[in-house]
Amino acid sequence: MKLVRFLSRKNKKNWFAVWLNVVVMFGFLVTAAQSYAGENNADMRAFLEQMPKAELHLHLEGSLDPQTVSRLANNNDLNFFNSADDVKKSLSNREPGLNGFLSHYNKALQVLKTQDDFYNATYELLRILDQNNIIYVDLFFDPQEHTRRGISFDEFFNGIDKGRIEGEKAFGIKVNLIMCINRNLSVQSAIEALEQAENYKDKIIGFGMDSGPEYGNPPLKFKDVFARARREGYYLTGHHDVHVQDSVKHIWQSLDIIKLDRIDHGLDAVNDAELVTALRERNICLTGSPVKRTSDPEPQDIDAIRKLDDNGVCVSLHSDDPGQFESGYLSNMMILVQEAGEFSKADMTRLMLNAFRALWLSDEEKKSYINKLKTYAAANTVVWNEVTRTKSK
Ligand code: HPA
Ligand code: ZN
Repeated sequence: MKLVRFLSRKNKKNWFAVWLNVVVMFGFLVTAAQSYAGENNADMRAFLEQMPKAELHLHLEGSLDPQTVSRLANNNDLNFFNSADDVKKSLSNREPGLNGFLSHYNKALQVLKTQDDFYNATYELLRILDQNNIIYVDLFFDPQEHTRRGISFDEFFNGIDKGRIEGEKAFGIKVNLIMCINRNLSVQSAIEALEQAENYKDKIIGFGMDSGPEYGNPPLKFKDVFARARREGYYLTGHHDVHVQDSVKHIWQSLDIIKLDRIDHGLDAVNDAELVTALRERNICLTGSPVKRTSDPEPQDIDAIRKLDDNGVCVSLHSDDPGQFESGYLSNMMILVQEAGEFSKADMTRLMLNAFRALWLSDEEKKSYINKLKTYAAANTVVWNEVTRTKSK
């Protein structure tokens, strides 16, 4: 009754006081919710940034950022890409799709000329990977793109290798190298690349395939080259870019005929239930790369990644060409993916666990890397059974 009297029509002042209180309370709740969400975001970002990581899909040539490309172009007296803006324009004006990207990529990599250029690019890349808490990297390089410009395999490889050795020492990262043949060049050219690598076989862990277009250049084209690389002791991997005509058919070829150990990208597999089962049962990992271009609202293919992960496929996240995509390096890409897909800490840890599962190392070495991730998860109160999606005993 007292309240009724207090709020009686005549008592306008009291009505005003109530209204004021409601407004103030509402403002307080909104601010509290915002600050809680902000803290949560900051906490998630720090969790992803500091997570120990493995990077398995990264092209040395794609790590060159616009400033580096233009600096090298000027140092090497090239008459293109003389400013970072030129490079940025070329990136933003490129044709959509893989081919548009590759025509920029294949031009930008031409600024690498001397052994020192390759050394610096590798060493400086490892510095950035260390800042991303990457503790293991399988690094791609494209030999034919350099030899076809008149730079010998020995010349550029010694630069990369020196950068690798010194970077490993300086930053404590384990680095392995994967040479990629260019799928739109000839079989003969791929064989020549394999022969040129002969002297460095012990320093190269894997033999891969990249570039494009994929349509018209299926894995079968290189069946004999892959077989020879296998005999020579390389692990095998190959690119199957997303949204490519016949990509599902090509992934089947890579699984059944070429017998790749790993598949780069490969997310189109999500469109074929039998292929999803085959990847899971044969334990073939996909090095996904949901890059973000300037025009994309968010990283691509989040739904495919979620679906493959939910179906038990070993799928992981990688940066591909971090100097050339807005998604950048792995920490940033993981933050973008987490936000877009609203993944939990356990989900993000599982995607990284998949990368460590995919390493071409002995079981013991893999276990030691996985234990680092496990310790990190525990320190961040992430329940390991939720990461592995197994029931506790
Ligand atoms: N796909 C094919 N070739 C490439 C890529 C890629 O994502 N990046 C660099 N070369
Ligand atoms: Zn790639």
